[in-house]
Formats: sequence, C-alpha cells, structure tokens
Amino acid sequence: GSIGKDGYRHYMEKELHEHPLVIGNTLRRMIDPATRRVVLPDLPFDLAAVPRVTMTACGSAFYAGMIGRYWLEGEARLPVDADVASELRYREPPLTPGGLALLISQSGETADTLAALRSLREGGQHVMSVLNVPESTMARESDVVLDTVAGPEICVASTKAFTAQLSVLACVAIGAARARGTLTDAREEELVQALLDLPGRAAELFGLGDAIREVAEVVADARDVLYLGRGAQFPVALEGALKLKEISYIHAEAYAAGEMKHGPIALIDRTVPVVALAPNGRLFEKTASNLQEARARGGRLMCFTDNSGAARMARIAEKMVVLPDAHEFTAPILHSIAVQMLAYEVALLKGTDVDQPRNLAKSVTVE
Ligand code: G6P
Repeated sequence: GSIGKDGYRHYMEKELHEHPLVIGNTLRRMIDPATRRVVLPDLPFDLAAVPRVTMTACGSAFYAGMIGRYWLEGEARLPVDADVASELRYREPPLTPGGLALLISQSGETADTLAALRSLREGGQHVMSVLNVPESTMARESDVVLDTVAGPEICVASTKAFTAQLSVLACVAIGAARARGTLTDAREEELVQALLDLPGRAAELFGLGDAIREVAEVVADARDVLYLGRGAQFPVALEGALKLKEISYIHAEAYAAGEMKHGPIALIDRTVPVVALAPNGRLFEKTASNLQEARARGGRLMCFTDNSGAARMARIAEKMVVLPDAHEFTAPILHSIAVQMLAYEVALLKGTDVDQPRNLAKSVTVE
C-alpha cells in the first residue's frame, strides 16, 4: 500500500506507537475543549428514553464493546445486552422497540456485524455504530455514526482502532449518563479529566519495553497461557488472549479471575503462565486473592498492575509490568495497550508473520 512503516519493523509496531495520537484525535472530536464536556452528535432519538442497549460486534471490536458495557451500565445505569454478532443474529433476542443497537467495527464491512445491524433495525432499534471507515456499508445503514479517527489500520490484528473504539465508548457512556441524570457535574469533570490524561499516560507505556520483554520470554516458551482479570479488566484479558492467539499462535484463554476456581485452576502448573490484569481499584483485593490461589498451585504469575498496586503484587508475582496510575474508569484502555505490546513481543520471539497472520483476514465479508 501507499502507507509506509516509517522505520518500524512491522505495521503493528507502528500502529501500537500511534495509540497516544489516535486516542487524542478521537477524544478531540467528542470533548469540547472550552467547556470540557462530552458532546455527542445530534441524535434522532432521546438517550434518556432508551430502555436498553444491544451491543454487538466481532473479534477485538466485541471486546471493546464489552468494556463499554461496564461503562454504560456503571455510569449511565443503562442495561446492556452483549453478544458476538454471529450469535446475536440467529438468537433472535426479544427487543423492546426504541432500544439502542450499538455496533462496533473497524472496517464497517464485517458480514456478521452488518447482518446483526439489519436484524436489530428490523426489530425497531435505533442504530448507533462506532466505525473507523466513515464511508462503509454499516455507516450508510446507521442512524448515527461515531467516528474512531484511528486512520487506516494495516496490521490484520487490531490495535489503535481498538483504543479509539474505547475512547468513543467512554464518551458515549458519559454523554448517556448526563442525558439520563445519573452523573454529577463533579463526576463528569473527573471522568473527562481521566480521558484527557490518557494520551500522556499511553505514551509512558513505551518505556515499559524491558519489563514486557521479560514477560514475553516466559510466554513465548509456553504452549498454553491463561489471562485473568475482573470487572472491566476481564474483557482486557479476553483481548490480550485473542491478540496472543492471532499473532503468536500460542493457545491462550481468558477467564474472569473470580471464575478461575470453577475450572481453569485445574490446568495451573509451572507450564501454564498466568497473565494477570490487576491495577489498583475496587476489585484489587479480590483479584489479588484469586491470583494468590493460582500462585499457591505453582502458577507463574505475570502481573500487569500500576504504581499503587505494585507493592501488593510484588509479594506474589514472578514478573511485573508496572503501568502508570490511572483513574479506574480509563485503566482498561492503558492495560489493553500493554497486553497488545506483550503479544507483539511474543510474536517477535516466535518469528511469525506479525502483520499477516495465517488464516486471518483484516475484514471478513463472508459469514
Ligand atoms: C477480523 C480481524 C479482527 C477484527 C474482526 C472484526 O476477524 O482479524 O482483528 O477484530 O475482524 O473486524 P471489524 O472490521 O468489524 O472491526
């Protein structure tokens, strides 16, 4: 293509380095710099009247949506049904007319997501799409399009489009919360500030290369890897495991940390590294005790935490990647960049075709 790698080894490396810029560009579209308030485009429906959201997407976009679900439910108190598009379109969930269909897609062309969009529209839903290609088929068939402004993404595995989707979804949650009266001015200011802090914090992650490479060396030798997280860090674990599978061909599975004891704990031994997402926050102690259980069974803990969580995690983790502190609302965005960086480092060690992994396509326009 006409877009070069600018001296990076792969498009993926280049696109990982674009995270701070892309997050900033996306937020600039949605936050008024003068009032520091989220500004959603004019909607042909009232967010305050929406009874429920049905979120659907495929691949990484679906995990972005799952993180968005925690925000929409937590801040806007909006119930969110979330399912992958290939299931949703045949599940035929009962829909209340006037509900909101929330579609997320980098390309705007994914066949399953497009089919789900059409069936949700037939079910009387308003259609809001979060898209990176504004002239795509899904854009034409949506009532509202929120643009992710990530620029062209060449690497098959999504990186910068993912954090741009998260930036948009965070703003939608804040906008919806204001419309529904579930957010104080002080809380809105706090969340907007947390978002505006993101590009700077994201740029700091590139200083974590050595720590991430140490984890990558352990992961690259494994046949199976378990990713764990709680709350909005659970979908980050799903995204981390997906990225690892896609570009390094190592089997990885993600579990809600609290659910580990109901099955995957049986797998844990020295040969199955555990990648834990455990920044400080509301669920920190709960996560820590789940990780302690893994550790007690001989599991090798690779812990992604933050400055405030580092001392606690140092007692159980074999290796740590310590991210800068962030607001709990935006921490999942930083941690998703970190797990994408890990997958990239593992792929380098494995020598795979990072930008064009076998059997995968950038945009899947068949069912
Ligand atoms: C493909 C890609 C994934 C992507 C998914 C959804 O499977 O390999 O990286 O997440 O499609 O694509 P979309 O364009 O709808 O975001």
